[in-house]
Amino acid sequence: MSEKNIILTGDRPTGRLHLGHYVGSLKRRVELQDSGKYDEIYILIADDQALTDNADNPRKIRDNIVNVVLDYLSVGIDPAKTTICVQSALPALHALTFYYLNLVTTARLSRNPTVKSEIQMRGFAEEGLPTGFFIYPVSQAADITAFDANVVPVGEDQLPMLEQAREIVEKFNRVYGETLVLPKAMIPENEMQRRLPGVDGKAKMSKSLGNCIYLSDDPKTVKKQVNGRMFTDPMHLQISDPGHIEGNVVFTYLDALSKEEDFAEFLPDYANLDEMKAHYCRGGLGDGVCKKFLINVLEKTLVPVRSNRAKWEADIDSVYDIIKEGTDRAVEKTNETLARVRKAMKIDYFEDRSIVKEWNDLLKKADQ
Ligand code: TRP
Repeated sequence: MSEKNIILTGDRPTGRLHLGHYVGSLKRRVELQDSGKYDEIYILIADDQALTDNADNPRKIRDNIVNVVLDYLSVGIDPAKTTICVQSALPALHALTFYYLNLVTTARLSRNPTVKSEIQMRGFAEEGLPTGFFIYPVSQAADITAFDANVVPVGEDQLPMLEQAREIVEKFNRVYGETLVLPKAMIPENEMQRRLPGVDGKAKMSKSLGNCIYLSDDPKTVKKQVNGRMFTDPMHLQISDPGHIEGNVVFTYLDALSKEEDFAEFLPDYANLDEMKAHYCRGGLGDGVCKKFLINVLEKTLVPVRSNRAKWEADIDSVYDIIKEGTDRAVEKTNETLARVRKAMKIDYFEDRSIVKEWNDLLKKADQ
């Protein structure tokens, strides 16, 4: 079994990535990638998983594979350090899922809190629950173990998946002998990274609510989302009124994204965010000034992302090659794990002719 430090993360390719993805995971993936602390790093584009609740719309998944990779490359994921690969092209994952399903009860799957709430959200409770969707935590355990990942950076909502994967690994190793690496979740350190709210203050950025700022949005759209839609403090009617920070999305975003040097550059009246917040709370600082500052801060992050994206968009051929080469490498990696698993399960019949020898020995013994 591998003693390496291996990271696996994954995304369902169902849409362009937004600022919530950036703050919650992409930024950290780039930091981890550049830390030099990991032997292998993989990002899985989980198109099979995305199909479990989009079976009627494969076109959407297909279109978003390149979209998501463009977002990865634009924020600084480096294909020389991080292998980007596509789930459906890795047959080992399907085989592993099938074996792991035998180690998990339906009762255990029914208790998975993330799946439970997703079933409600998607209306599967009324319409009927697709089996593939019900068992996707098992397929996710296959994703994680196939790469021998010991570190899985995820958001809090994915903790039940990691718990499930760990149980499967423990059970597998108990039944078939030590074969699989026990993975560990790596959770964002602070609240902001965990969940950046939508511009309207709703819990999460979501396409259907129209409350996202996408990494690929143009400056005009960003400005419109901030100036036109961003929730601030409804009690802060006059500039002189005392304002509130709590639940004020402008400040939530500044908490997540602003740095001290941004003040020197864009808002030198304050040395740092604490001073700015203090003035806002005292009264006398208007939302307009705060939003203008936020737009500057956002643009500082988004300008290079946008220009990288434009560069890659001009060369989709190379993007395709990156995905293809990453997937080829991942096929090898995951096939090795599958071979190890089949050996442990004694279903590696055709690796050698040992089954012939076993039979001949048996027949000889019966003869004696
Ligand atoms: N379920 C994850 C999500 O919705 C995506 C995912 C699929 C994943 N396979 C994975 C995450 C493996 C981490 C590891 O965000």
